[in-house]
Amino acid sequence: MSRLIVVSNRVSVPQAMGAAGAQGGLAVALSAALREHRGIWFGWSGKETESFTGHLDMQRNQDVTTATIDLEPQDIEEYYNGYANRTLWPLFHYRIDLTEYDRNFGEGYERVNARFADSVLPLIEPDDLVWVHDYHLLPLGSMLREKGVTNRMGLFLHIPWPPTRLFVSLPNHEQLVASMLQYDLIGLQTEEWLDSFTHYLKKEMGLKVSDDGVIEYEGRRIVARAFPIGIDYEEFVASARTELAQGAYQRLKDSLGHGRKMLIGVDRLDYSKGLGERFDSFDRFLTDNPEMAKDVVLLQIAPPSRGEVASYQLIRHDLERKAGHINGAHADVAWVPIRYVNRGYPRAELAGFYRAADIGLVTPLRDGMNLVAKEYVAAQDSEDPGVLILSRFAGAAPQMEDAVLVNPHSTEDVSDAIRQALHMPLPERRRRHERLLASVRDEDVVRWRENFVGALRGEHGAEVPLDAR
Ligand code: ADP
Ligand code: G6P
Repeated sequence: MSRLIVVSNRVSVPQAMGAAGAQGGLAVALSAALREHRGIWFGWSGKETESFTGHLDMQRNQDVTTATIDLEPQDIEEYYNGYANRTLWPLFHYRIDLTEYDRNFGEGYERVNARFADSVLPLIEPDDLVWVHDYHLLPLGSMLREKGVTNRMGLFLHIPWPPTRLFVSLPNHEQLVASMLQYDLIGLQTEEWLDSFTHYLKKEMGLKVSDDGVIEYEGRRIVARAFPIGIDYEEFVASARTELAQGAYQRLKDSLGHGRKMLIGVDRLDYSKGLGERFDSFDRFLTDNPEMAKDVVLLQIAPPSRGEVASYQLIRHDLERKAGHINGAHADVAWVPIRYVNRGYPRAELAGFYRAADIGLVTPLRDGMNLVAKEYVAAQDSEDPGVLILSRFAGAAPQMEDAVLVNPHSTEDVSDAIRQALHMPLPERRRRHERLLASVRDEDVVRWRENFVGALRGEHGAEVPLDAR
């Protein structure tokens, strides 16, 4: 079996059940995938060094070998805080209003991708499969090709691909996409993002793309397909059964008081998650349903993320103001409507919190997938499950149509959904949950990894005609 060389910006192996932290979906999904594969996970250490040395820090942790490099302050500023999180992230989440275009960011992005290429090169052996992740590293494959790497290389993008009309606002968009076409396989989360990507290839580059995603480019064939990511279902369910989870469940239930219902939101503090709109919707629900108001609480867990980027500082500030305002307007001596918590929790505790919640409120304005929706479903008690309210604009929505699907921009829509969920009869809750659970269980991270790696190996025959180099 070929080894896997996984490359992503962030390398963070979660500790066995229990570690805290604001891990995004990528870290959680990848460490689960790598644990079962020999191989190496390469990326940035998250640390700063005065001047770049290229020194590789190799470690073995929870059965995963990691190799990391430190970056210079200017690298971090231009590549991570700059091009990745001030340019690509907002643009790919349809937030052209927040997108900053700055040549220094573009240069820093190229420079750091070149540093990644130089540093990972000595780790790559002839039969290895190279699997690159996410928007931080789109041109990495082409840089490795320039250095003579002929291995099969795949890219998986964890975030949406924007519509062509937005994407063309990116200076050098042609160059960026051309560099991506040096991979053999390009994976996106959903058919919708895949459609946007192939639309660009056809309309802007005049390329031929077959119905099964084979792109012809400069005499080579590249495959683009949707591989919706899932959660590590077995691990999550096991962690939900631990004492830690049970203790978290009980503590939270006891704190609510008798008969009070709870809604839960768990999101990195990011403008794409629709947290302001969510608070506004809950405010509307409290105003429109005064008879139910004091019987519900919204627990919003939102660990800070990307705090050096102004738009993230702004949203943090806005949410604090909004939560304070809503609580001030509605609270009573023995009841506060929003519990707003800015920290990470061990996964088992999180599972306990999800289980204690009657409603999972997952309302991103745009999201590549959204694993929280899947974790919420996996954590429920099948006999008495809670209701998932899910944004139509999450990549998870097409797989989770038995959730109550909402338009997160409409406070009326979300407020109605909260009301509907609170009144939903047990048989309907069970029916919806059973179907949601089946898809979360079957389309898990193991299947995602097997499908992607299988396709990269060319295991599916004519479906993925990867060319020899
Ligand atoms: P994103 O990748 O954009 O952050 P996802 O919903 O796909 O969004 O993944 C988020 C992951 O981070 C989930 O696995 C979730 O459990 C985890 N997470 C988010 N907030 C917390 C928190 N406060 N404590 C622990 N884990 C968290
Ligand atoms: C999303 C991105 C990941 C990223 C994570 C956390 O899941 O797709 O690439 O790692 O958010 O963000 P951060 O900037 O802290 O790595």
